[in-house]
Amino acid sequence: MGIGSAQLEIVDLTPSIGSEVRTDLETLLSGREAATIREILERRGVVFFRGLEISDEQQVAIAKTLGTLVANEGEGGINKISLDEKVNQRAKYLRGSMFWHFDGSLQPLPNLATLLRAVQLSETGGQTEFCNTYQAYEDLPEAEKQEIADLRVVHSAERSQYYVTPEMSYSEIAFWQKSATKTCPIVWEHRSGRKSLLLGATSDYVLDVSVEQSRALLARLRDWATQPQYVYRHEWQPGDLLIWDNTGTMHRVLPYPADSGRLMHRTILAGEEPLQ
Ligand code: OGA
Ligand code: MN
Repeated sequence: MGIGSAQLEIVDLTPSIGSEVRTDLETLLSGREAATIREILERRGVVFFRGLEISDEQQVAIAKTLGTLVANEGEGGINKISLDEKVNQRAKYLRGSMFWHFDGSLQPLPNLATLLRAVQLSETGGQTEFCNTYQAYEDLPEAEKQEIADLRVVHSAERSQYYVTPEMSYSEIAFWQKSATKTCPIVWEHRSGRKSLLLGATSDYVLDVSVEQSRALLARLRDWATQPQYVYRHEWQPGDLLIWDNTGTMHRVLPYPADSGRLMHRTILAGEEPLQ
């Protein structure tokens, strides 16, 4: 509680993940505290700012103090996140965000961080949950750390779409199979030396084990990483700006009606760290 620099007050919301950062808009825009915010983000996984009345332009400006924007993501750095096809043509694809994932799992580098601002909320559902994949890794029994140390997982867009459309047609499968797959370690050893678990909805199969073992292991690790002690659930208020460290967390949104009007504005920061 209340630790931080002169211009930031940090309020931790659970022991292992999620902090509210209290400050003013001028401080955020100036970038003076950017290094401290990045440090808090890595340590706490998720930070949010409340009551600041941030515009789209200001959201993008804040993002730029923290890292490099991903090119071609939304207009002017703002992507409209909605399950309503009238608002976002990729609404169906976005339904995949209701399942544990991290952003950019199929990109060359996982995204560094995502900024999400609540423009309009749903009356029901729509909370966003985050789990700390550093802490989840650290708490694994030593034998399990050894068991998974060298395992690699093939991630695919196709796999994540089975959550959205369990009985995909041949042509739907063929469409998603056009996206390149990516092979990632389960244990990500970061430049800092810390390790985190790399799982999520695009995790298709573990290399060199049976199909059954692969499914069981991926489910067991997901269950482990999403236990209540690793999870923070954000109850949104209009205008909240939330940032997650996409390299040390997974997230999912709780279901909400597609026609609820829920609208979030998202800005993504490009990854800086390769996977081994
Ligand atoms: C995302 C995402 C969650 C939400 O934009 O990457 O997962 O709460 N959004 O809308
Ligand atoms: Mn996401």
